Amino acid sequence: MKFFVDTADVQAIAELNDLGMVDGVTTNPSLILKSGRNIVEVTREICALVSGPVSAEVVALKSPDMIAEGRKLADIAPNIVVKVPLTWDGLKTCKVLSKDGIKVNVTLCFSANQALIAAKAGATFISPFIGRLDDINMDGLELISDIRIIYDNYEYPTEILAASVRSANHVSQCALIGADVVTAPPAVIKALASHPLTDRGLEQFMADWAKTGQKIL
Ligand code: E4P
Repeated sequence: MKFFVDTADVQAIAELNDLGMVDGVTTNPSLILKSGRNIVEVTREICALVSGPVSAEVVALKSPDMIAEGRKLADIAPNIVVKVPLTWDGLKTCKVLSKDGIKVNVTLCFSANQALIAAKAGATFISPFIGRLDDINMDGLELISDIRIIYDNYEYPTEILAASVRSANHVSQCALIGADVVTAPPAVIKALASHPLTDRGLEQFMADWAKTGQKIL
């Protein structure tokens, strides 16, 4: 499974990238706001750092404007993926840009039918939002599972990019279901390495080692 980092924080991306943990990056208008940076400048910097796909989101709501914004974003670097919302205009934009060879990530997906129609519009990635569904007492992971079945039934090449990932448990569940990609905030990716028994075991080993009075170096 591929790991994308869900942030526009260049330093956080660089840190994970040095460990080989970054297969791509996703951003959105809220993450750009959080970064305090200009969208074109920060996206260019991220694209220079990461060789994998970097999603940058359009903010227009009508397809002609979305297409123009998408082309401008795609010009930033060859690894840009244009992110469009799952609206009718977003789907039209997806079709046009995909035909031109520009990769598109269709975002704000909350149902299996939305995922189905995005695949038909030629999306490279579909982004179902797990956490936001869980927030309203629905089952985000069940949606990932349903989309996996539908895409496999008809061999759609659209990749399932599980988004709005809030916990390490979300990541392992997505891996079990067979999501192609998980995009997660840096803190969630770091949390994948944590286990209380690892901490307790290490504490015990250190205590016992001190009692031996030995040194390795
Ligand atoms: C990524 O593509 C999404 O925009 C992001 O995962 C949304 O996450 P949130 O629901 O935590 O804001």
